[in-house]
Amino acid sequence: MRVAASIGAPNVNVLVACVHGNIAGFAIMRYGDDDAHLDLLAVAPPYRRLGIGRQLLQWLEKCAVVAGIFNVALEVRAGNEGAQLFYERMGYRTLAQLPGYYQGVEAALRLGRDLSRRPVDHRIQRIQYNLSVFGVLHVAIRSLSSDP
Ligand SMILES: CC(C)(COP(=O)(O)OP(=O)(O)OC[C@H]1O[C@@H](n2cnc3c(N)ncnc32)[C@H](O)[C@@H]1OP(=O)(O)O)[C@@H](O)C(=O)NCCC(=O)NCCS
Repeated sequence: MRVAASIGAPNVNVLVACVHGNIAGFAIMRYGDDDAHLDLLAVAPPYRRLGIGRQLLQWLEKCAVVAGIFNVALEVRAGNEGAQLFYERMGYRTLAQLPGYYQGVEAALRLGRDLSRRPVDHRIQRIQYNLSVFGVLHVAIRSLSSDP
């Protein structure tokens, strides 16, 4: 019902990812005057960790930027660690804790991203960290080998 209403709404994008004719994922984003809200994002279990969630979200984010909207918000279950790691990777930060958000029982986190800023690529940071550790080890080995 919610999906059908979204498909018909002029300010909502409903995006479906297909792999070999199978629906692999879908996402819904609602666009306001100044903000966008990600209502739904899901990738079917066999297709996870293939970059589909990233592509869906980035496509919807690009639409927001084209429309001059630079703030995106969403809610995620406090217990959904995998999704939180995904959004963190996509550049989202926690804006608020929302106790009892789901049926007055389960807490949510409100996350947001400023699309005018580039997301941090943690993989690049990790490589730089490893290089700096390697540099320290290299120096230590050199100083050991130069001992009398
Ligand atoms: C969250 C979800 C949409 C991610 O979709 P996906 O297609 O698997 O994500 P991607 O492959 O694009 O992941 C991009 C990056 O996010 C991170 N990431 C994604 N899922 C992750 C997980 N479960 N644990 C840790 N990191 C994760 C990784 O860094 C990943 O890059 P990598 O695979 O190269 O390491 C998907 O797991 C899902 O549908 N979950 C169930 C529904 C849900 O929780 N939706 C969000 C509710 S708000």
